[in-house]
Amino acid sequence: MRVMRLLTDNFYLSDEAGPESVIAECDAIILASVSRECIGFGILAPSKTGENAMKELAYLVVQDNFRGKGIGSSILSACESATRRLGASKLTLLAVDGDCARLYRRHGYGSTAGDNLRYDTEATRLTKNLYS
Ligand SMILES: CC(C)(COP(=O)(O)OP(=O)(O)OC[C@H]1O[C@@H](n2cnc3c(N)ncnc32)[C@H](O)[C@@H]1OP(=O)(O)O)[C@@H](O)C(=O)NCCC(=O)NCCS
Repeated sequence: MRVMRLLTDNFYLSDEAGPESVIAECDAIILASVSRECIGFGILAPSKTGENAMKELAYLVVQDNFRGKGIGSSILSACESATRRLGASKLTLLAVDGDCARLYRRHGYGSTAGDNLRYDTEATRLTKNLYS
């Protein structure tokens, strides 16, 4: 399946978090397609903190030859709408520093006061309050 291929090609997944379990445990998958072929997606998962009002954007990917055309931004907006439909008011994610973090910050994501922790040397947690 195309989603699984894009997942494994773009992200390191440990044995416990293989593509099947990522999909089985998620709340929603937002797909972008061209000619009925999936060329990108966002995966929403329950927040790791257990907070019902918050969802985690666990994965966002666009097939490499379709990048830079606004598709990632459109998927991100659709993920925010889906988060609201799921009854949550915040969307959080772990952004790889650099281009990715800039993309999310441009869309209104920021570090929250209670979460200034760096998760590793290259990623920062960013959150957006969808009703503010
Ligand atoms: C991040 C990603 C989803 C963006 O998708 P997209 O369709 O290119 O997004 P848009 O066209 O809406 O926006 C492009 C922006 O993403 C940034 N970007 C981030 N990673 C990028 C990458 N690997 N390749 C191209 N652009 C990337 C670009 O710099 C651009 O920002 P800018 O306009 O400030 O320069 C896509 O690049 C991707 O799938 N990357 C690999 C997977 C990944 O890293 N996911 C996110 C982890 S934080």
